[in-house]
Amino acid sequence: MRSFLGRDILSLKDVERGEFLQIFDVADRLRPYAAERRNGDLLKHKTLLTAFYQPSTRTRLATEAAMHRLGGHVLGFSDAKMTRAGDFYQESIKDTVHMLEYYGDVIAMRHFQQGAPQEAAKWASVPVINCGDGWGEHPTQVLTDLYTIFKERGGLDGLKVLCVGDMRMRTMHSILYAMSQFDVEAFVVCPPEMSLLPEFKAEIDELSVLYSEKESVEECIADADVIYMEPVVQADYTQSRVEAASEHGLTPPQYQVTRELLARKAKSDAIVLHSLPRMDELPPDVDATRHARYWIEAFNGVVMRMALLSLVLGAVE
Ligand code: CP
Repeated sequence: MRSFLGRDILSLKDVERGEFLQIFDVADRLRPYAAERRNGDLLKHKTLLTAFYQPSTRTRLATEAAMHRLGGHVLGFSDAKMTRAGDFYQESIKDTVHMLEYYGDVIAMRHFQQGAPQEAAKWASVPVINCGDGWGEHPTQVLTDLYTIFKERGGLDGLKVLCVGDMRMRTMHSILYAMSQFDVEAFVVCPPEMSLLPEFKAEIDELSVLYSEKESVEECIADADVIYMEPVVQADYTQSRVEAASEHGLTPPQYQVTRELLARKAKSDAIVLHSLPRMDELPPDVDATRHARYWIEAFNGVVMRMALLSLVLGAVE
């Protein structure tokens, strides 16, 4: 198995089964820091640089919280407009990263351009962690999600996962890549204009991912062990920022997971995950059902980032 020391975390396409299990094991070992709300000193000599060119609540703050929990230092920007990359100069990723690598020991980057973290990794002498790139991938979120499923369902093999939402979304790409490493079957539900792109389908076919496309949540929810959600009322992820519209569409019923539908058709032990933020596809009254796991998923976001930072910085094996 390859070492994680100094490794970029850019895509889940190249993460092997044993490596997923290794990451989950490290997450389990570090989990008490977050669960007991205490800070340690595992990374006290290290600094995280967060370079966020697109808005974020969870990913940036969970990554920063993870670094604080392990006694490390944090600096960065959450609005590229206040840097030279976002003003008159439009400074390139190459030039920006040549600065950032002197300021921190690991760079966590979110960008509206697909492939931007890969470009950063080409020039950085420190590890780069992809925190979401355009429609591309979102590996740290999906590692969080897989870890949540692993903990809540006692493993991944043998599960049927219903993926509903915009299939152009970066989380959907990362989770379908990751499924190639587990004995998991996916049901994919989305509006026709948000379907899996042909080139992505070719890739997951090549990876022998087992999936089938369905018309509605209702059609397959009864068979699902995990319901994995994204909005279909969605921002344009190729933009650095999208302001709230005065009006936006509503989610058609075939892409919603409601309390009534869960009660009527879901397995009693099915779990619902959503990387958040949500729109009306997941009404708040689902929060109080036994199926909801998205708040645990959010907590695990800190645990997973502790594991990834510790691994790429060589503090754990
Ligand atoms: N799940 C997720 O990526 O959320 P943020 O956009 O708030 O980071």
